[in-house]
Amino acid sequence: MTHTDIAARLADLLGPQAVRSSAADMAPHLVDHRKLYQGAAAAVVLPASTQEVSRVLAFCHEHRIAVVPQGGNTGYCGGATPDESGRQVVLALQRLDRLRSVDAANFCLVAEAGCVLARVQQAADSVGRHFPLSLGSEGSCQIGGNLATNAGGTAVLRYGMMRDLVLGLEVVLADGQVLSTLSPLRKDNTGYDLKGLFVGSEGTLGVITAACLKLFPAQRSAATAWVSIASPAAAIELLGRLREQGSDRLSTLELVPQVALDLVLRQVPGSRDPGTVRAPWYLLVELTASAEEDLDTVLEAALARAADDGLVLDAALARSETQRADFWRLRETVPEAQRKAGGSLKHDISVPVASLPAFIAQGSALAEALVPEGYLVAYGHAGDGNLHFNLNQREGADTAAFLAREAPLKRAIHDLVAGMDGSLSAEHGIGRLKVGELERYAPPLELELMRRIKQALDPHGILNPGKVLRAAGPPAP
Ligand code: FAD
Ligand code: MLT
Ligand code: ZN
Repeated sequence: MTHTDIAARLADLLGPQAVRSSAADMAPHLVDHRKLYQGAAAAVVLPASTQEVSRVLAFCHEHRIAVVPQGGNTGYCGGATPDESGRQVVLALQRLDRLRSVDAANFCLVAEAGCVLARVQQAADSVGRHFPLSLGSEGSCQIGGNLATNAGGTAVLRYGMMRDLVLGLEVVLADGQVLSTLSPLRKDNTGYDLKGLFVGSEGTLGVITAACLKLFPAQRSAATAWVSIASPAAAIELLGRLREQGSDRLSTLELVPQVALDLVLRQVPGSRDPGTVRAPWYLLVELTASAEEDLDTVLEAALARAADDGLVLDAALARSETQRADFWRLRETVPEAQRKAGGSLKHDISVPVASLPAFIAQGSALAEALVPEGYLVAYGHAGDGNLHFNLNQREGADTAAFLAREAPLKRAIHDLVAGMDGSLSAEHGIGRLKVGELERYAPPLELELMRRIKQALDPHGILNPGKVLRAAGPPAP
């Protein structure tokens, strides 16, 4: 079947309004957020219901046409971008965007895959509930993409990753059958956890069309601080103390180096200096509670004790919502500031939390030795042991020389991570970018089981081939 035939048959199935096939209309769907991959496609199809997704997949299964699911296209590993062959179909979920129910009594809601994360957060707020997944991309990433990547973000410390926030899923399988476990049940031990297979599968095992998500009591109190510290070791010591002294109210502990703060203040309009003593490292710390509580006093007391013990150099508590938002902006715009400052070499690693200081010391030494053209901007979710261990190019340095350091640096950093029982993808997934890295570092038995699961659920290999696992071979045209 030619490209034109595929587009025409899809238009017959769903109507012409659901198919984009001109170069201009398809363009935004063919490149990933980081602009690492430029793909091509036979068509972009935009179903508006689960039944329409099912019809598309049944058709593609029958004709062995590869399908690339796409949500908000904010992913970092090229998972939502088709390959260069021009024979794949992008299945964009953006029209599948109904909130099917918001159930305050059962502390859950059912959202279709194309709902943007911020809208789900607002829907929970509107009934006095809280949906805690929180990412810098929340204004454009979608629930389906969050599930398919098992997204993390800035509240994992308290609420867990996306996997921990899902009660049930509706998934269209490769052949078009619909599997529905959409249920608000908190407890259900009837056999294998099938829904769990699809969370983090990056579109390679099925297309998620809806999810029943866990809600929590609304947050009524918060205390937020910007804290100057001397070292990552101080951050980890403070993490332990705040978890103890904050009685489980600690929801965020994010690490930002001085160099990242300077980048943000230079590159991001509207960013404001927090006014704390300049220090090599900073923490954004937040306690939250569902009751009306004076959390400022709790946080202030804990930080004062830590200052007495030399752990904290200085701290500013947010005294208004505006100041709270200012502190958050300083953390959440680090990726934007980094991008504006030029290309970067990125690593999304995690190690056991207590090993983070050792990782940073050894990783920094490696980065310095291996990349003289770059400087380190290592920041992120220190409370989870997850760092975005990124390097930016020095001003005036040769771009080709800087980029040529990528492979040896990645090898050294991932070897270090492996030696510390860490992960080479803490929250961004594998996509196309890290297929080789997964093959290199995953235990052979784990890889073998992943391949068997893929074969069982997608025997013709039509679902996002070449992502997570190497494609067995391109599907026949
Ligand atoms: P996409 O990029 O469209 O797709 C991602 C993968 O999921 C692809 O493999 C795609 O095929 C698959 N997929 C998408 N929808 C479906 C579906 N319905 N069914 C099956 N498969 C599907 N990530 C974090 O984890 N933590 C962060 O803190 C974080 N911060 C970010 C900040 C910024 C500024 C940006 C730009 C990105 C950030 N990300 C972060 C990365 C990204 O936003 C997340 O990975 C997000 O979950 C991707 O959602 P998406 O809808 O954009 O998915
Ligand atoms: C973040 O935590 O800011 C993102 O996951 C990393 C990034 O956007 O580079
Ligand atoms: Zn992150």
